[in-house]
Amino acid sequence: MPKLLAILGSPRRKGNTALLFKEAVRGARDGGADVEEVVLRDLTMSPCLEIYGCRKTGRCAINDDFQGIYDQLLSCQGLILASPIFFYTVSAHTKILMDRCQSLWVRKYWIEKTPFGKQNAGKKALFISVGATKGKKLFDGVLLTVKYFLDTFDAELWKSLLYRGLDFEGDVLNHPEYLEEAYQAGKEMAGVL
Ligand SMILES: Cc1cc2nc3c(=O)[nH]c(=O)nc-3n(C[C@H](O)[C@H](O)[C@H](O)COP(=O)(O)O)c2cc1C
Repeated sequence: MPKLLAILGSPRRKGNTALLFKEAVRGARDGGADVEEVVLRDLTMSPCLEIYGCRKTGRCAINDDFQGIYDQLLSCQGLILASPIFFYTVSAHTKILMDRCQSLWVRKYWIEKTPFGKQNAGKKALFISVGATKGKKLFDGVLLTVKYFLDTFDAELWKSLLYRGLDFEGDVLNHPEYLEEAYQAGKEMAGVL
């Protein structure tokens, strides 16, 4: 059974991201994956303090809930990450997680001395995001951020589901086709892991 980590980065428990996330998780389970769900707002996680306590071992020196996620990121075969767009990037909850993964970056590039640009992708990731506006560049920034975050634990962006024009809680319910797409993506992902 493929092991999948599913991380919800929206502060809203019943917001648009959460509803899409739920469908993707349901699809992945129906597709046969063993899914562990993490809701970032329920965790205690300090931002990266840039003390480079990770320099020797590749493990972050701050002892909080990130420690468990660190292990889960390394041991999973696939990741579902969902975040709303906040100022053209991920939510603060999600960004805190990403910055703490600098320890994984240190492990990969400083300790293990992996050459830059070497593709080691073994894990697959599904990224789900929503924003209120409809601009062409709405997701440009976040996609770059996600790509380099995934690289720290050798994952590649397998698929992204990006939805514009969703603002108020529950707006996505007016688009059952988005929810269906998220369900199908989760299910398909379980099959390709
Ligand atoms: C702090 C904050 C920053 C936001 N920044 C953007 C933005 O840059 N572009 C955009 O289109 N929407 C922006 N939004 C709107 C959210 O992306 C939108 O309401 C989304 O549906 C929220 O997702 P959720 O329901 O999953 O929480 C912002 C909302 C908040 C609270």
